[in-house]
Amino acid sequence: MAMSHNRIQIMHGVNLDQLGRRDPQHYGGISFRQLEQTIDGFARELGLDARFFQTNSEAEFVENLHNLADVADAVIINAGAWSHYSRAIGDALEIAGVPAVEVHLSDVMKREPWRHVSVLADGCIATVSGKGADGYRDALVALKAELGG
Ligand code: DQA
Repeated sequence: MAMSHNRIQIMHGVNLDQLGRRDPQHYGGISFRQLEQTIDGFARELGLDARFFQTNSEAEFVENLHNLADVADAVIINAGAWSHYSRAIGDALEIAGVPAVEVHLSDVMKREPWRHVSVLADGCIATVSGKGADGYRDALVALKAELGG
């Protein structure tokens, strides 16, 4: 029987839409469109329904989290640089009240010290970092288990 709680919102924040123009040493050569298509493929294989959202506006990101519980059962969040300092997004994630996994394409713990801090991690059941696009598969698997699938 198909899972009924299978809607996963994939939220990308600031500058992630510029993948392909960012340092390939950290992000590889994948474009943002290719990343979303790859995640969609992973989700389909797992019987999950991925929905995508990206913005460079912190206000829009927060508002998407406010409305999230109406449209999704769980969320994967890569908030880009906001991850390291936006308490507003951390609060909004708590308001969203759905299971969350934080993902970073690059290995943030091996980069500059300011990237070692995440103000979102406390609101997440797991963090996946440094595995590129494959990290989103790990996040989907973790959320599927959390949703009882
Ligand atoms: C990132 C890591 C952040 O430190 C950075 O600001 C990004 C992308 C990642 O996916 O590796 O924009 O979240």
